[in-house]
Amino acid sequence: MTLLDIFPSLRTGMPSRLDPAVWPRDTHYDGDGRITLGGVALADIADQYGTATYVLDEEEVRTRCRAYRRAFPEAEIIYAGKALMIKAIAEWVTQEGLSVDVCSAGELAVALAAGVDPARIVMHGNGKSFDELDAAVRAGVGRIVVDSLTEITLLSALATEPQRVLVRLSPGIDVHGHPAVRTGVLDQKFGFPLGSDAANEAVARILRQPNLRLVGFHCHLGSQIHDPDHYGEAVRRMVAEMAHVRQDHGVILTELDLGGGHAVAYRGGDAEMNIAELADIIEDALDAACARHHFPRPVIALEPGRAIVARAGVTLYRVLSIKHIDGGHTYVTVDGGMGDNSRVALYGARYEVVVANRHPTGPQMTATVAGRYCEAGDILAADIRLPADLRPGEVLAVPCTGAYHHSLASAYNSVGRPPIIAVRGGRCRELIRRETTADLMAREVE
Ligand SMILES: Cc1ncc(COP(=O)(O)O)c(C=O)c1O
Repeated sequence: MTLLDIFPSLRTGMPSRLDPAVWPRDTHYDGDGRITLGGVALADIADQYGTATYVLDEEEVRTRCRAYRRAFPEAEIIYAGKALMIKAIAEWVTQEGLSVDVCSAGELAVALAAGVDPARIVMHGNGKSFDELDAAVRAGVGRIVVDSLTEITLLSALATEPQRVLVRLSPGIDVHGHPAVRTGVLDQKFGFPLGSDAANEAVARILRQPNLRLVGFHCHLGSQIHDPDHYGEAVRRMVAEMAHVRQDHGVILTELDLGGGHAVAYRGGDAEMNIAELADIIEDALDAACARHHFPRPVIALEPGRAIVARAGVTLYRVLSIKHIDGGHTYVTVDGGMGDNSRVALYGARYEVVVANRHPTGPQMTATVAGRYCEAGDILAADIRLPADLRPGEVLAVPCTGAYHHSLASAYNSVGRPPIIAVRGGRCRELIRRETTADLMAREVE
């Protein structure tokens, strides 16, 4: 018997071993040793809504939005909806003063349904179809980010009022991440290489269209960038290009959108972007570049997605079985996996996993948390530490799963996608319900 068994109230006073770098600020242990988020015990959410389930801390999302607004008081902060686009998020971020970026007609529809002012919506995508451009123009979105010469032709045919556009440029900055997330380099599918004939042609063509108004440039350097210097370099290169446009066409572009990509920590010790430092570096680079080219300061826009919602999300799973392979690993199989978290298979992402229904204090084992999907590679976390006395039925929680989890989820193996449950002030509410087998069957035509 431990001291905690004799005096259970000591638990609430125990130093938390939940790393504040990866868990929402309002994460605690309750008197029974269970993890609570936004004042709600995660084990209760698992009981009420089943598992796998995404939990989202509303206050954490709002706090992150406010932090960006404080750090960049003069910039436009545009939430990148691809990280997680549901009506509630669109409402929260716009209530906090952010704009919203969408990259499909579907995301646009969600933003509009949430009541986002179309003028504060930015439309992205390297493969926007005619119908998507049509939907964006008809909705009156504030800006469309042009990604190809074909789009210019389509947009000039569609726009009845002057449509504000940005041109997406790749500034040739290599942030050295996973190949799938390095989007600042010249040879990749997004945008036009900065300084290329194609980029110059795009600018010239837009300026010739009376119903298109070129207001600025856009770039996106990649994902999980923790070195703010890359953004300083982007500012220098992009402002120089804006000065070229003034020289060649006598037009002054007023907006510079630097995209998103600010790193968050998925596990304790991971590097993350310091947004105060980022603000200083962008400010200094802007001052220097504008002075050098005698160019008026453009309005800076930033498009954080992950940095707004990642840490607000926690995914809950229930342990289904525990298997010890002689001379091999111990596999803890849970009722979710690559269907709700494809980032492990896509990018080799790594996560922390903890027991949520009790605060274990005894011996630990090394275990591999395996997903339930029929793929040998469906592993959520390899060789992590879990309590040696873990049992089927217990609830495991994976932090930092608010971004690119629900939005990348699939119904592989005909397993429906998990619900999203919001927590705030001791209450929870279901934002998105679980996808049922009936939902999946509803698409069968015969
Ligand atoms: C154009 C653009 N803006 C913003 C983002 C958001 O990136 P992050 O969620 O890493 O901040 C992305 C992500 O791919 C993007 O492609």
